[in-house]
Amino acid sequence: MRTRRTSAHDAHGRGRLLTHGAFWRILRPIMSKKLDMEILASLCKRRGFIFQSSELYGGINGFWDYGPLGCELKRNIKNAWWKHIVRTREDVVGLDATIIMHPAIWKASGHADGFADPMVDCKDCRKRFRADQLCEEQGLELIKDGKTVALPDGAKCPACGSRNLTAPRSFNLMFKTFVGPIEDDSNAAWLRPETAQAIFAQFSNIIATARQKVPFGVAQMGKSFRNEINPRNYTFRSREFEQMELEFFIRPDEAVELICGRVTTLADKPDLTGEPQESWGWEVWLHYWIEQRLAWYRSIGLPAEHLELYWQTGDELAHYARACVDIEYAFPFGVQELEGIAARGDFDLTQHQRHSGKQMDVFDEALKQAADKLDAAAKEAFTEKVVAEWTARNQSPEAARAFVAKLFEGKYVPHVVEPSAGTDRLALALLSNAYDEETLTDDKGKTDQRTVMRFHPSIAPIKLGVFPLVKNKPELYAKAREIFAQLQRRWNCFWDESGAIGRRYRRMDEAGTPWCATVDFQTLEDGTVTLRDRDSMQQVRLSVPELIQKLDTEIG
Ligand code: GAP
Repeated sequence: MRTRRTSAHDAHGRGRLLTHGAFWRILRPIMSKKLDMEILASLCKRRGFIFQSSELYGGINGFWDYGPLGCELKRNIKNAWWKHIVRTREDVVGLDATIIMHPAIWKASGHADGFADPMVDCKDCRKRFRADQLCEEQGLELIKDGKTVALPDGAKCPACGSRNLTAPRSFNLMFKTFVGPIEDDSNAAWLRPETAQAIFAQFSNIIATARQKVPFGVAQMGKSFRNEINPRNYTFRSREFEQMELEFFIRPDEAVELICGRVTTLADKPDLTGEPQESWGWEVWLHYWIEQRLAWYRSIGLPAEHLELYWQTGDELAHYARACVDIEYAFPFGVQELEGIAARGDFDLTQHQRHSGKQMDVFDEALKQAADKLDAAAKEAFTEKVVAEWTARNQSPEAARAFVAKLFEGKYVPHVVEPSAGTDRLALALLSNAYDEETLTDDKGKTDQRTVMRFHPSIAPIKLGVFPLVKNKPELYAKAREIFAQLQRRWNCFWDESGAIGRRYRRMDEAGTPWCATVDFQTLEDGTVTLRDRDSMQQVRLSVPELIQKLDTEIG
């Protein structure tokens, strides 16, 4: 919500521009309270951003379709992510794997046995809830004892208030299906609940073909499926959604130490915005990726003050994870996770090594050379140091010795830092952030309201509206079509010839289109068009090459 006072004017002071619409002054924002999600959902439906899936048949809970504007928005988000993570880096490559994979992958990853939420049913109204969410909302603590959980006294049904609830039962979130015509357990398979596992499963093929050396990353984006017990908050928690995940493989700190003689930690205050350094340990890599991701969110228009970091505490962390931070966004319904960034050690690749029987370690020439320079005493001292460190972390001395012996051969299973983002959650954050309402008043005191989606130009579904001032002047109309065709080759532009110019502007404001170009009589004389800015509503005259240059710079 913005509080601005400004007046729209023709930057060049040309009276002719008045014909394109009244001059509006922004009086005051009419949205004095937090954005109501129903208002946003209604705009999203009205303008074709998001529709309920299968609405024709009453809808299906937890599934959403993206309409003409929404799918452009999502495509822009994914393109921007791919550019940031893959295209503009030399150390990340991509993968596009299948949604259904060998069921053994989910056994190895732990999803088959452990990817579950505790579910309770109300015996009176028959509604179903997630036990942890139910407790959290009622200010209660779920009772945990190892793998079993129980509801505390006082827990009640959020729908009808009854205390007649079942005990929590573990509910696996993976969608099950069958491959081939026979529906028995030997043909069972799952829709992937995350895109990440395919990266681990294809690690050997990728490292054999991509001409990359650790540290390097593999990125994948695409659909994931989770049979959420309670989909909610519009698209925030859906049953089918898209993820954008990076597995960034790094050397174990012990290998870094052998190669560089030291490990850079946060205490060394490394420059996280500069080029990554060979001596960085896992903690520095984790913080580097947090910085990268925050900078990217800001670059596509999410204000820094709406982004927060939440560090998972000891008992929230998965047993193998060294650290995990959530990048959270202040959604209208609360501050919630947008992306998780986890330091997962070598857990995933080691699990696949164990379950597949195939080696997942890499040979690191620099490590072998460094190890070969050590004499027997130095090797012994290094081994004992690692054993002591591992023992202090409750890891077995035998495992430490085996690990160091491999290091001396130049081998290790890479560790991983995983920034894992949700495309749909980000789309929702960008939609919530963009929504704005203003009351405008013209020179004669007449007021009007406008709804405007203030998307950053890089992710706006339509970049430019192109309007002929009138449609009954063939020469002007033809010129406008020619300009539209020229610009449409570069960006998604929208042609609108119906209604008063002011109405056309309003429609583009609701679609979040950053600029509108009007082709008028002066265009026929000097080739310039009127470019109207969505946010300031100011108008300037530009030649088409000037307009192209401006859009190129601002869209990025
Ligand atoms: N590979 C790690 C992983 O999947 P996660 O925290 O479960 O981690 C990563 O998911 C991101 O995927 C979340 O931060 C969120 O943006 C998105 N996500 C997860 N579950 C979702 C759901 N049910 N609906 C929409 N987005 C979801």
